[in-house]
Amino acid sequence: MPTARRRYRDKRAPSLALRRRFPLISGVSVLSIHRYPSRVLTQHAAEITQINARAAKLLNDMVDTMYASNGIGLAAPQIGSLLRAIVIDTDSESRGKQLIKIINPEILESSGSVVWEEGCLSVVNYTADVTRARHVLMRGWTIEHKEVQIEASDLLAVCIQHEIDHLDGRLFIDRISALKRSLYRKRLNKQVRQDEDDAPAKRPGAL
Ligand code: CO
Repeated sequence: MPTARRRYRDKRAPSLALRRRFPLISGVSVLSIHRYPSRVLTQHAAEITQINARAAKLLNDMVDTMYASNGIGLAAPQIGSLLRAIVIDTDSESRGKQLIKIINPEILESSGSVVWEEGCLSVVNYTADVTRARHVLMRGWTIEHKEVQIEASDLLAVCIQHEIDHLDGRLFIDRISALKRSLYRKRLNKQVRQDEDDAPAKRPGAL
């Protein structure tokens, strides 16, 4: 039985469950999601200088991957692309209606404060309360080369800030206390060690 823990070790392999979910749909690219502590999640993503077919494919792959993982937001570094692109769809009941795909997003204004329990597709089995601005004004570009400004509050504002953090190499666990973060790290290390004990033959160099 493949467990969630074992999938964690096999970071680059597409999850079997996801491939099973989309066996025959063509044009769907569900990519594997990099998970903490993958280095790509700590790096600064570069601006997209040309809005072209490659950028469109990146955004579409991100949407497919987000939906297949039941996520409400995804940033390009999470699928290994160090470019400034984010996708968000906070309506998990009725997919597509609230979908936004933004290139080179930036926050122009922010105000207020809100505490939200956040999770992340790159941080497995963990959520924590994070304090962020309650309202933001975001600017970015669409794949149609249109400059857009989006005013957001509460969940959408939290998502926008969470995804832009990814573009700056920051995870929500970088915004919690050092104590909570170290407890999470310890738990994660324990999971990885347990996996190794479960499958000694797979360890490199094991006899
Ligand atoms: Co995230």
